[in-house]
Amino acid sequence: MSKICVIGTGYVGLVTGTCFADLGNEVVCLDIDETRIERLKNGIMPIYEPGLQQLVSQNVKAGRLTFVTNYEKALKDAEFAFIAVGTPSGVDGEADLQYVRSVAESIADQVEDKIFVVNKSTVPVGTGDWVADIIRKRRAGKPLEFSVISNPEFLREGSAINDFMYPDRVVLGSTDRVAASKVAQLYLTLRCPIMITDLRTAEMIKYASNAFLATRISFINEIANICEELGADVRDVALGMGYDKRIGSAFLDAGLGWGGSCFPKDVKALAHMAAIHGTHPQLLQAVMDINRNQRRRVIYKLRKALGSLNEAVIGILGLSFKPNTDDIREAPALELIHLLQNEGAIIKGYDPQAMENAAQVLKRVQLCENPYQVAEGADALVLATEWNEFKQVDFDRIYTSMKKPIIMDGRNLWDGEKLRSMGFAYYGMGRGGFNNGNSD
Ligand SMILES: NC(=O)c1ccc[n+]([C@@H]2O[C@H](COP(=O)([O-])OP(=O)(O)OC[C@H]3O[C@@H](n4cnc5c(N)ncnc54)[C@H](O)[C@@H]3O)[C@@H](O)[C@H]2O)c1
Repeated sequence: MSKICVIGTGYVGLVTGTCFADLGNEVVCLDIDETRIERLKNGIMPIYEPGLQQLVSQNVKAGRLTFVTNYEKALKDAEFAFIAVGTPSGVDGEADLQYVRSVAESIADQVEDKIFVVNKSTVPVGTGDWVADIIRKRRAGKPLEFSVISNPEFLREGSAINDFMYPDRVVLGSTDRVAASKVAQLYLTLRCPIMITDLRTAEMIKYASNAFLATRISFINEIANICEELGADVRDVALGMGYDKRIGSAFLDAGLGWGGSCFPKDVKALAHMAAIHGTHPQLLQAVMDINRNQRRRVIYKLRKALGSLNEAVIGILGLSFKPNTDDIREAPALELIHLLQNEGAIIKGYDPQAMENAAQVLKRVQLCENPYQVAEGADALVLATEWNEFKQVDFDRIYTSMKKPIIMDGRNLWDGEKLRSMGFAYYGMGRGGFNNGNSD
């Protein structure tokens, strides 16, 4: 049993703290957002993450998990301080480290004599050294025994608990190998490969992993666009590629492209890091360009199907950036809505979990209670997020309630052949030779 303080109770911090508690440790989760902590104390989750509420409540009941806003209280007796605060994009695409800096300063101010500082936030290469420097300078004259360890997080929203408990690997980077081995002990029970590297390499592993996954998606989207023109179906192309063990099938789903709180900012931050160090990250730039273009292709197809989009009623199904999360940060749906509104379209939308978050940022969007309300009177329906709930919608009901039966399947979720036979004009992504506007 170890005493752990997790700083930041967002998607990463709350899952990390709860899972470490579930593994038998004594965990204090700290956040500066008082409302968030108050709600957590009352069992109300700040995010939607399958299984999280129950796991939090079990561990609170067992006395292993507490929530506080006070650094002094949170760090008292803690052996490990995990940093899990946000690192959003700055104006130039760089990672904004203001929250990490503030945490480093608080650690320097509040820890009594020793601590392992473990960084789970995704931070530019070199940040671990920078954090160490901040702590050292702030403690000048009052020694503190500490080491900084980079421990990048690879969990995915929507399956975060499972990803934490059954990781493909744990990466630990530090200039102090003994410190890294201490952190490794927290993970031994998970029986996964644990890789110990230097600090900067660990920080880079996270960026390189996210950039690679984003590259796979952009790659298949580029192939999808070529398929569309040449009459091939990208779904079968991806399947055929995926059987090859050297390639594998993950992250080869063509669609509206990647979004969310990680890929966009991380690819941008890596490209920024590369550029300011004199290299030309051409592949990363292309990966971002292709992604941006996927949303524009949908607008182009809608324009082709409907003529002017001015005053066209467009229904959007799915607002979160992917299924099983309420996270709408950089969601493709949001960019689509913005582009459509620019052309004068009237937008209706629905999401199974993200309505509260969407209501806070979406202007002039009619938020509906279900897919059928969205379809009512719509000139076209766009599927932006492939929630399970949308797989089996009643298309007879949708057909009769739409003004024009046009379906833009941005995730290739539906059976286009069936929908066409029902009378819909169906458009998928990369499904050339099959009603994509260029062949029939
Ligand atoms: N969300 C993911 O799926 C995911 C996956 C892997 C890695 N990451 C990385 O993990 C980090 C956290 O991401 P997230 O999505 O959990 O962020 P988040 O925005 O959901 O949560 C961040 C939390 O930190 C709190 N915070 C900010 N400043 C603080 C301070 N000084 N002291 C205490 N708390 C403070 C905020 O109030 C907020 O609750 C980011 O660097 C992200 O790139 C995220």
